[in-house]
Amino acid sequence: GAPVEVDTSTLEPGQRVDTSWRGQPVWVIRRSEKAIENLNELEPQLRDPNSDVESQQPAYARNIHRSIDPEFLVVVPICTHLGCIPSFMPQPGSLSADWLGGFFCPCHGSRFDMAGRVYSGVPAPTNLPIPPYRMAEDGLIVIG
Ligand code: FES
Repeated sequence: GAPVEVDTSTLEPGQRVDTSWRGQPVWVIRRSEKAIENLNELEPQLRDPNSDVESQQPAYARNIHRSIDPEFLVVVPICTHLGCIPSFMPQPGSLSADWLGGFFCPCHGSRFDMAGRVYSGVPAPTNLPIPPYRMAEDGLIVIG
């Protein structure tokens, strides 16, 4: 499919823009400073904190924030267990008292952090997929 452009110039921290690429949903999320900081604390609770499973993201997203720019997450919101669409729950405390924000799959309870990294002990085997994309000028993100 053709590349898809997303304008992030008016996106506030914590907000998301929905689009699709190659028939799959893609969410572009602007993380708050606090959400970026929190990514550092979660490693012991995650199954693949350093994105070692290479199929789940391009090489340039194999880092703690799983993105080119730490502020922006570009993610395919399809649960890696059986394909449900997880709920986006960026607010700390919104799922449980110790929840730091992320994605929750209502089908069988898989949880992912604000970088789409899967928690240990849930049915989903891998982190959420990151599609290929690049950052262009004027806050434009080009997916594909
Ligand atoms: Fe998401 Fe099963 S499909 S937990």
